[in-house]
Amino acid sequence: MHDVTMSAINSFEQIQNSRSKILIQKLVKAIHQYIDEVELTQSEWEVAIDFLTRTGQLCHDQRQEYILLSDVLGVSMLVDEINHSKNVEQTPSTVFGPFFIANMPVRNYAESIVEENIDNEIPLLVKGKILNQQGEAIVGAKIEVWQTAENGMYSGQDPQQTITNLRGAFISQVQGEYAFKSILPVSYQIPSDGTVGELLNYSKRHFWRPAHIHFMITAEGYQPLVTHLFIQDDEYLNGDAVFGVKERLVVGFQQQHPNAEGQAKFALDQRYNLIHYDFVLSEGASDVDTN
Ligand code: BEZ
Ligand code: FE
Repeated sequence: MHDVTMSAINSFEQIQNSRSKILIQKLVKAIHQYIDEVELTQSEWEVAIDFLTRTGQLCHDQRQEYILLSDVLGVSMLVDEINHSKNVEQTPSTVFGPFFIANMPVRNYAESIVEENIDNEIPLLVKGKILNQQGEAIVGAKIEVWQTAENGMYSGQDPQQTITNLRGAFISQVQGEYAFKSILPVSYQIPSDGTVGELLNYSKRHFWRPAHIHFMITAEGYQPLVTHLFIQDDEYLNGDAVFGVKERLVVGFQQQHPNAEGQAKFALDQRYNLIHYDFVLSEGASDVDTN
């Protein structure tokens, strides 16, 4: 080990909080080891500083290029795996992503999240239950959903869409049921106009994410669940730009002919696609933690 490495690690000896001390000292050690191993040149160091500086300059309230960088480096999913994979009965979690908007309208059971005219689209019905690990219904859970429009853009990204389009919150019913109407999501490309875009282009990597619907499910006494449902057979399921796909989150949809239940319970009198998925939460603190 170089003298400077030892000195730099030791310079953090006085940190009182033992966890913070480990985090900082191990970080210094890992960075020094990396630089030593690759024998970093002065000009390579300058490129790195410039990249990190420009990444920071792109960040503001509406944009977080560092989280996107963490996502494309696989770091977000590694943090997810370390923190959320211990409990196998719980529905797996995945990346939060940058497109969540809080306080979207609370909608009625089976209401549509589509606010634009979509005459040519077959409606999608997503329904199921929110359950605990014993298979019992969780009543009153809040299910926040968001997804892209047919053009691959989220409201907030696309000035053509009302901000509440393809978004909403639902409350689970007496047997834990939730249901909402939408359209099938499409695969789309993550933002490519910043430093992350430069990195992916330089590396000849693509920007695509497989089609998915985002969910954040919160309930008193349960750990919040941040996840997606991915649509089966999407061509990017095996090449998600942010490594977010987990097999248990991939779902098929069934085409339904007009039928009595669709009409009576969901106000669907035409042909529609159906996704049925039950989410399982685990008991614990209910603070929202989107890591
Ligand atoms: C998303 O699914 O919305 C997303 C996740 C990570 C990076 C970019 C977008
Ligand atoms: Fe997304």
